[in-house]
Amino acid sequence: MSNSQNRSCIALVLAAGEGTRMKSGIPKVLHKVAGLEMVNHVVKVVGDAQVDLCAVVSGNQSELVESAIINFNKEAVFFPQLKRLGTANAVLAAQSALEQGFDDVLVLFGDAPLLRPQTLVQMRQCLADGADVAVLGFHADDPYGYGRLVEKDGKLIAIREHKEASEEELAIQFCNGGIMAINGAKCLELVKSVSNNNSKGEYYLTDVVEIANERGLNVVAHKGDEQEILGINNRVELAEAEQIWQERRRRELMLDGVSMVAPQTVFLSYDTIIGSETTLEPCQVFGPGVQIGSGVKIRAYCHFEQSIVDNDCDIGPYARLRPGTEISQSGKVGNFVEIKNAKIETGAKVNHLSYIGDAEVGERVNIGAGTITCNYDGVNKHLTQIGAGAFIGSNSALVAPVSIGENAYVGSGSVVTKNAPADSLVVSRARQTTMEGRAVVLKNRALAFKKAKAQKPPES
Ligand code: UD1
Ligand code: MG
Repeated sequence: MSNSQNRSCIALVLAAGEGTRMKSGIPKVLHKVAGLEMVNHVVKVVGDAQVDLCAVVSGNQSELVESAIINFNKEAVFFPQLKRLGTANAVLAAQSALEQGFDDVLVLFGDAPLLRPQTLVQMRQCLADGADVAVLGFHADDPYGYGRLVEKDGKLIAIREHKEASEEELAIQFCNGGIMAINGAKCLELVKSVSNNNSKGEYYLTDVVEIANERGLNVVAHKGDEQEILGINNRVELAEAEQIWQERRRRELMLDGVSMVAPQTVFLSYDTIIGSETTLEPCQVFGPGVQIGSGVKIRAYCHFEQSIVDNDCDIGPYARLRPGTEISQSGKVGNFVEIKNAKIETGAKVNHLSYIGDAEVGERVNIGAGTITCNYDGVNKHLTQIGAGAFIGSNSALVAPVSIGENAYVGSGSVVTKNAPADSLVVSRARQTTMEGRAVVLKNRALAFKKAKAQKPPES
């Protein structure tokens, strides 16, 4: 058995479809699963399978599709398909790339985000083992709409598209998943031989199976999993793909040592990283760009985006960490706390009802309940710096730009507009006045008023 890793490989991702059933202003392949565009899931899998070149065939709103892909993977290259004449025609759009002479050609669809890298590796292994064409087949309980894999004496002899199939062929449940691996030296010639002599007048890539057989080439069907080839055509299928993706990733994380009390209520992004021995209580949402360390306790109902939480932190319940948040080791973020673009150093605590935005919070700082960093002046955002060991009394407003020195104290209820030096006490609120016995006077006055009101005759 030769090794597929020694062979060069190009992947063609076909993404020129219109996707009208999404009923959307954006191209179908840009709809997201787990926070990442469908087509970028495919591009990611291509990268994970160590393919040398990822070429995308785009058509509908190609500028949008191309810029979304380039943002994710700068190395992808693009080929426009001017008219949507069928999957074989789409492959020929990338003719100049195919002419570079790759050993293996993989053809994939941009609307099938659940594909796994190991499936591509297996498809390439089929070529390394001597196949000229390998087709990913799967068993469909309901094969309606799929191309049927027609076999004779255990050999794949043709793929018949649903519209072209005979009664007998329509009964076949072994279907074409749409992924194909073709020997690079033979690919162009085979694809160029496809005609559009069928009911749709399209150039079907699937016809290369019959053509290859006519030429005595070696054609195989590789059996895969139905979930993996799920192609998305509407928003119901998009939600199904999301659910399958989430279940898969939760399972992987749990097997890697993350505890989830109610896994079905944890929503992850394509790039969420969570360390082992971390526990997630129910109802968590992880947006893109989140890294959680090991041994972290995340209590119920938290929301994370582009945030880093180091080992052994204690977060939530009901915490919201927005982009640019960094919580250092053993940090504590309690209930109803929102943090944005702020670094919270080791051992610091923000326990209750606070907003910390555009801030640097030093080691062991204690932020009292209800503290707000007033970071926005209506036009610009400003920084709040809080030195190590400082104590911010409850219900304080820190009006940025402002800095609180190391070990300084801010009295509760202060509105701090000037810097507080290290070790100072800053209090900025009305001084307390105490009037002995005054409460009794006020109470008696209120009772007398109530009595007078009750005795007053009703108005006629
Ligand atoms: C295709 C297969 C079918 C298979 C099914 C699996 C063909 C002829 N048929 O059918 O055997 O069972 O997928 O889901 O290949 N595209 C272009 N340019 C075109 C036409 C299509 O880029 O001119 C792209 C589409 O964006 C899509 C993919 O190719 O990503 C497949 O096209 P689609 O029209 O969905 O083919 P199916 O009818 O689903
Ligand atoms: Mg399709």
